Amino acid sequence: MKEIIASLDEIDSVVTYLNKLLPTSAIVFLTGDLASGKTTLTKAIAKAKGIESEVTSPTFSLQQCYDENLFHYDLYRIENDEFMELGLFEEFDKEGWHMVEWGDESLKSFLLGAGYDVFTVTIEPFEEKRIYRIEKN
Ligand SMILES: Nc1ncnc2c1ncn2[C@@H]1O[C@H](COP(=O)(O)OP(=O)(O)O)[C@@H](O)[C@H]1O
Ligand SMILES: [Mg+2]
Repeated sequence: MKEIIASLDEIDSVVTYLNKLLPTSAIVFLTGDLASGKTTLTKAIAKAKGIESEVTSPTFSLQQCYDENLFHYDLYRIENDEFMELGLFEEFDKEGWHMVEWGDESLKSFLLGAGYDVFTVTIEPFEEKRIYRIEKN
């Protein structure tokens, strides 16, 4: 487990570390309270990839596509069976990083069982900064 403390100005250090750690395709569970900085990290990744803006998914309101290689899901209040019924699960087969907010442990276990590369980034406020704890599952 890697721990990085970063302010908003230093968030690129987290992105750099993820670039080294993560394979081309990965599912990243973003864990942390409301306003801990989950969306901010995803946006920093997009920016580092040179992506200008997010594009709303043509298919799913729970998914934002940044470009072909970066996807962002907000699963707040989404049950696993609902997730499956929507067909969102198949999105994970697309090459790229899949950033998941509010994914629960049962979804994580399922994805691990299905052979995906799963990582968890836990974000915790610390003074005016954030502690990012990064691990491979
Ligand atoms: N590394 C950081 N250091 C300081 N403030 C941060 C950092 N990351 C995010 N924030 C701030 O935290 C607030 C909430 O961020 P947001 O990404 O919307 O949270 P979440 O998606 O977890 O609800 C924003 O005001 C953002 O500027
Ligand atoms: Mg958010």
